[in-house]
Amino acid sequence: MAQETCKGGAVANHDTIQLEAFELTLQDIATVEIEKLHALSIGVGWPHRPKDWQMLLENGKGVVAVDAIGRLAGSAMWFEYGPSFSTLGMVITPPRLQARGAGRWMMLHIMQQAGKRRFGLNATRAAKRLYQSMGFTIEKTVFQCQGEATPVATPSLPAGAQLRAMTPADFNAVIALDAQAFGAGRAALYGSLLPVSKGLVLVRGQRIEAFSLCRRFGRGALIGPVVASNETDAIAVIHPHIVEHAGKFLRIDTREETGAFAHYLAQSGMTVYDTVTTMSLGGTWMHDGEAETGAAPKTWALASQAFS
Ligand SMILES: CC(C)(COP(=O)(O)OP(=O)(O)OC[C@H]1O[C@@H](n2cnc3c(N)ncnc32)[C@H](O)[C@@H]1OP(=O)(O)O)[C@@H](O)C(=O)NCCC(=O)NCCS
Repeated sequence: MAQETCKGGAVANHDTIQLEAFELTLQDIATVEIEKLHALSIGVGWPHRPKDWQMLLENGKGVVAVDAIGRLAGSAMWFEYGPSFSTLGMVITPPRLQARGAGRWMMLHIMQQAGKRRFGLNATRAAKRLYQSMGFTIEKTVFQCQGEATPVATPSLPAGAQLRAMTPADFNAVIALDAQAFGAGRAALYGSLLPVSKGLVLVRGQRIEAFSLCRRFGRGALIGPVVASNETDAIAVIHPHIVEHAGKFLRIDTREETGAFAHYLAQSGMTVYDTVTTMSLGGTWMHDGEAETGAAPKTWALASQAFS
C-alpha cells in the first residue's frame, strides 16, 4: 500500500491506530442538558425518558464527566434522605469508555460530596464488583418484574379494610408510613412523586395502613413505592393499578422472591426481567422482617432503582 501522510502527521499505511488521549473533567450534573443525559442512559440500554431524568435531577445531586470537546463521558448521582443516609445511582460510563476507571472515579467524587453518611444502592451486574471493591456489602436482591399487565380475579379485601384513592389530605400520613418502612424521611421525593402518580390507600378505621403509587416511567407505567405491613394488604393496593393497565406495559421492582406477592405479580404478567443487588456501605440498610408479623410497615416495591 502506498504510504500517504495525512494532515497532522498520521500515516495511512497501517490498519490500526492508537487513540488513547482521553482527559475527562468533572462537572455538576445540574449544568448538563437533559437530552445529553438521556442519550447517555439510552447508550447503556436503560429505559429512562427525559422526564424520568428530570425527576432524578430534582431530587439528587451529582457529577458528569466531560471530555475535551464537551461530550458526556459519564454520570453519577446521590440522593439525600436526611443527614445520615443517601442512595447512589445513575452511575453510567459509555461502553467505549468502560473499564478505564471512570466509574470508580465518579463514585469517589459523589461519596466525597455527600460526606460522612451511610450509603445504599442497587447494583447492576456490571457494577457489582466495582462496588464490592469499594467496600459495599450485599444485602438483598431486587427483582425487576415487568410485562403486559394481565389482571387476575380481584383478590378479596382483607377484613376491616377499605381501599380508596389517595387525596392530598393523605400525603402526610403516606410520607410518615414510607419513612417507617424506608428507615429515613423522603418528604422531598414524595413532593415529586405525588403530583405525577395515581395513589391508592388501604385504611382501617381512619388509619392508612398501606398505600401504592403508580406513574409513567420508562417504557410504560411503574408501580411504586408500595408500603404495607403484610402481603395481603400489599396485593390489595396494587391490584387496581394492574386492572387499569390491562394489556399495557407495566413494571414493578420488588425484593420479594417467593410468597403470595411475588406469585401474584407473575400471574399478573409481570415476570422477572432482570435483577439488581441491594448493597450498603457504613451500616446495614435493610431492616425488614417484622412486617410479616404485622408489626411494621415494609417497602414491597421501590420508587425506582436509583431512589430505591
Ligand atoms: C458499571 C459501570 C458504571 C462501571 O463503570 P466503569 O467506568 O467501567 O468502571 P471502572 O473502570 O471504574 O471499574 C470497573 C471495573 O473495571 C476495572 N478496570 C478499571 N480500569 C481498567 C482497565 N484499564 N483495564 C481493565 N479493567 C479495568 C476496575 O478495576 C473495575 O474492576 P472490578 O470489577 O474488579 O472492581 C459501567 O460499566 C456502566 O456504565 N455500565 C452500564 C450502566 C450500569 O450498569 N451502571 C451501574 C448502575 S448501579
